[in-house]
Amino acid sequence: MSNETPAEIGLIGLGTMGAALSLNIAEKGFGIAVFNRTVATTHSFYENAGDLAQKITPCDTLESLVASIRPPRAIILMVPAGDPVDQQIAALRPLLDDDDLIIDAGNANFHDTNRRVAAAEDENHPFLGIGVSGGEEGARHGPAIMGGGSEASWQRVAPILEAIAADYEGAPCATWLGEAGTGHFVKTVHNGIEYADMQMIAEIYGVMRDGLAMQPAAIAEVFTRWNDGPLQSYLIEISGEVSRAVDPETGKPLLDVILDKAGQKGTGRWTAIEAQHLGAPIPSIEAAVAARNISARLAARKIGGDIYGEPSHDAESIDLDLLERALIAGKILCYAQGFDLLKAASDSFAWNLSLPDVARVWRAGCIIRSSMLNDMASAFTDEPDTNLMFASRFVSLLMENEASLRSLVAKAAAAALPVPALSSALSYFDMMRMQRGTANMIQAQRDFFGLHSFERLDREGSFHGPWAES
Ligand code: 6PG
Repeated sequence: MSNETPAEIGLIGLGTMGAALSLNIAEKGFGIAVFNRTVATTHSFYENAGDLAQKITPCDTLESLVASIRPPRAIILMVPAGDPVDQQIAALRPLLDDDDLIIDAGNANFHDTNRRVAAAEDENHPFLGIGVSGGEEGARHGPAIMGGGSEASWQRVAPILEAIAADYEGAPCATWLGEAGTGHFVKTVHNGIEYADMQMIAEIYGVMRDGLAMQPAAIAEVFTRWNDGPLQSYLIEISGEVSRAVDPETGKPLLDVILDKAGQKGTGRWTAIEAQHLGAPIPSIEAAVAARNISARLAARKIGGDIYGEPSHDAESIDLDLLERALIAGKILCYAQGFDLLKAASDSFAWNLSLPDVARVWRAGCIIRSSMLNDMASAFTDEPDTNLMFASRFVSLLMENEASLRSLVAKAAAAALPVPALSSALSYFDMMRMQRGTANMIQAQRDFFGLHSFERLDREGSFHGPWAES
């Protein structure tokens, strides 16, 4: 099986995302050669491609894949992150010419991408690591694409990547963001923010379900209504849809039959780990990762429930307007943390990352797309590198909604309704505007037990307390 005309690009790995991306590329008019380790998958993909099959060259071997692409070649890898990427590169590279470009489009750890870019450059081979967001639907009809690697390599494939990407008012959501692993780092932080955004919505759902005794159908109406306001976003939209869904087997609301245990592939955890390495505070994202981990402790939670009993969750004094406002404030603070982490990484790795470009590339196609991201792009354009909570257009929004976040966190705590991501957003806010913090106590303690010394408010230098003399 082979098309006559050489393909403009190749793709390896016809799993859900790879298949969707290939169809997207074909639909935009580019010839694409595809290969999958299991040959039957390649054949069934091709047979089910309909009219798009004329743009697709299915290949049974890596050799035929390489032979089907017009040189200098570009080949996208859409294989599971980690060892499979290295194995695929090792199998493919010997078949390629020196200037053939390999593009890893999976959810790679940016350290791996740094290593792969360096190894490729050592041998004078081009390599790109691109973050692709939007799930299957996005990959098929328009994802957000976060590019990393050499800009010259990006330019070679930019026409294809821009054509297949989501479009925000005429601007493609496909951008080169920096050298080496920058694109994958930005994608990782995207996922960290995704975790916190999802967790905050889940916390609000919990308040409605347990505190206000609302049924999923009523909760669906609330999310759908909020999606017409400042919270407009893909995640709020789908939260309305999943709350409305009915289980065909039992006729019950689908949410009521889903196990309360969330999985994770690891990008949220990577975000927390990198933030720790960089000393960047992202408490809401860390809380979201921890909440997923606690969700997985089903047996322990059962023991906890048996010992301590089920508390009364009565939260009648919480109204829906308060919830909406609290979520607006929580969301801004969560994004403030995520962007601050990106800035910390950019400073530390000398990436010169453009925060407005990141906000722009996230405006459409990706999982965290929302109307607020356009305002964030403008905020970072007006005040580059500021913390979002200090950017003038978000200061007023935070001032309007901060009291609601505070009130919700207090009322939720009183009603034993856990809101870890929202409450850590509030603590972040309070600490980030606290001009006299409490770390003087920490410094005194450190000096007391370890003579680590402290600085003073009233003069320069390094000091010890009186305990140092004993
Ligand atoms: C996206 C998603 C996508 C995937 C995550 C989910 O941007 O399209 O983030 O990359 O859904 O891997 O991650 P977890 O399995 O860790 O929730």
